[in-house]
Amino acid sequence: MIPAVSWQKNYLQLIDQTRLPEETLFLRIETIGEVFEAIRQLKVRGAPAIGITAGYGLFLGMREVQSGSGKDFFERLDQQIAYLASARPTAVNLFWAMESLRRRLGAMADAPWERLLDTLLELAIELHQDDRQRCEDIADHGQAVVPEQARILTICNTGALATGGIGTALGVIFRAFQRGRLREVYASETRPVLQGARLTVWELVTAGVPVQLISDNMAAALMQQKKTDLVIAGADRIAADGAAANKIGTYSLAVLAQYHQVPFYIAAPLSTFDLQISRGHHIPIEMRPADEIRRVFDQCLITVPDVPCWNPAFDVTPPELISGIITEKGIIRPPYPENIQQIFQQ
Ligand code: MRU
Repeated sequence: MIPAVSWQKNYLQLIDQTRLPEETLFLRIETIGEVFEAIRQLKVRGAPAIGITAGYGLFLGMREVQSGSGKDFFERLDQQIAYLASARPTAVNLFWAMESLRRRLGAMADAPWERLLDTLLELAIELHQDDRQRCEDIADHGQAVVPEQARILTICNTGALATGGIGTALGVIFRAFQRGRLREVYASETRPVLQGARLTVWELVTAGVPVQLISDNMAAALMQQKKTDLVIAGADRIAADGAAANKIGTYSLAVLAQYHQVPFYIAAPLSTFDLQISRGHHIPIEMRPADEIRRVFDQCLITVPDVPCWNPAFDVTPPELISGIITEKGIIRPPYPENIQQIFQQ
């Protein structure tokens, strides 16, 4: 498992995920501007990994500033938070990570600048390690829904490249493989940016997990031919009603799964829930450039050069299509509004 994000004493190292699997290119990130661009350009992506990166990004940003009073520190920090928060709008982990660092630092309002800066880095590292443990617990809880000799369909990339640990949906899959319960994974290619074909397949093949790649439009036939026992996807933001925003195409899989009576699960840490958002349709959805659709992976043009395109990066799966949400605290079942509240109150 190569970590997507790692802190290297005085700089941040990222794998450039836009280059995988052709090339494993490590980026040396030293400024908050580079962090912003890496998130925006999907060099680092996946909801938890974006949040973790932003934590280190805040440290890099504050390190660039001449030291001043504690009050100046928080003013600058709030500016940096607003800047990084504008990199991508859907994954709530980005905002959650920065808010949680801000809140914990806020308890030290009287501390000198240097102490605040050191603590910011310690908290960013802690947040990173915390996500690793959340992934482990999600992987364990998820085993309850994996049948023997499971054939599991997944979408996008939710593994080590997308998190601080073994992953969310892919973590459940890895654990099932380690326990000898997995027959095969079907990875949906995930147009337009191909996170499934490029990243998930790479992670699974590297780990020796049996996988077959399908293009996104093959999922219906796959289910019709009874080749799937279970669908598991990740999430970028889960509303209080249990609706889950995830990579575009996830909703289609959920509709198909219900029609074919295949269980459909979301796997996500509690840091992906946004209880301020009551209903799924209020989740902000990122719109991405038309060239992501017009071209295959930024290169070969596959249509008329200027054709207008509709390119939302995410869709929202309504709660009634979700069999359960696998979290680090256990599996949340319907009715979601009550059961989500309950898990947060524990
Ligand atoms: O646009 P991306 O690649 O950041 O989208 C990622 C996803 O949709 C993942 O499924 C989600 O962030 C969960 S990652 C554990």
